[in-house]
Amino acid sequence: NRRVTVRDLGSAKERGERWPMLTAYDAMTASVFDEAGIPVLLVGDSMGNCHLGYETTVPVTLDEMTMLTAAVVRGTKRALIVADLPFGTYQEGPVQALRSATRLVKEAGAGAVKLEGGERSAHQIELMVQSGIPVMAHVGLTPQSVHAMGYRVQGRGEEAAQQLLRDAKSVQDAGAFAVVLEAVPAALAAEVTRSLHVPTVGIGAGADTDAQVLVWTDMAGMTAGRVPSFVKQYAQLRQTLGDAAKEFAQDVIAGDFPEERHSFA
Ligand code: KIV
Ligand code: NA
Repeated sequence: NRRVTVRDLGSAKERGERWPMLTAYDAMTASVFDEAGIPVLLVGDSMGNCHLGYETTVPVTLDEMTMLTAAVVRGTKRALIVADLPFGTYQEGPVQALRSATRLVKEAGAGAVKLEGGERSAHQIELMVQSGIPVMAHVGLTPQSVHAMGYRVQGRGEEAAQQLLRDAKSVQDAGAFAVVLEAVPAALAAEVTRSLHVPTVGIGAGADTDAQVLVWTDMAGMTAGRVPSFVKQYAQLRQTLGDAAKEFAQDVIAGDFPEERHSFA
């Protein structure tokens, strides 16, 4: 009864087995996904948008990430917990990255960390991996760069495609155990997946990556407003929860709750 390891994910690729990954930001939700058998949970800095009410992932701090990662670790028994390095906690260089990652592993109990960037983040990845911290890379659309790149499909056109391939190879060579490909044309994601020996994790990257990740609030229909076109919604939790709250309110106003069985004699 041990946790999933990065080696398990490597052997899954060798066997040609796909695996699912979801984000999680709290112990309760994480326990649901752990019991459902999701092998890898990402404490994504998407928590900035869905959980903390920021407009982007940029303001998320290492303190916030540490607190929520610790909660996800406490809520789970089986899943590998991957924690995002927030914006500004690794860009200064390998030593800053190692210091931030060490906190997430040592203080919060993460099994691995994730950071954004291909060639530009390779030195950071190298030092963390040499120090014994498994690292997941993230290329293609990198939301922490929203002010420079916006939110749009990456790797379109021959030059951009070649750069994405170089980025993916570079993080693999630096020692990353897996690479997230976000918002990348399906054919290019398939090519990257064939050229790497470590698993690729797609989000908006077509069907041919080794794994798939979704933000859980998008996947479960909890997000307010529109979700990206690459999301499939497997439930409508926002509607369900809102209806429950309305029914409770009506019962209280009408005096229908509590009933005798909800009361102490
Ligand atoms: O923060 C996040 O949720 C992510 C995934 C979308 C890969 O980085
Ligand atoms: Na992220």
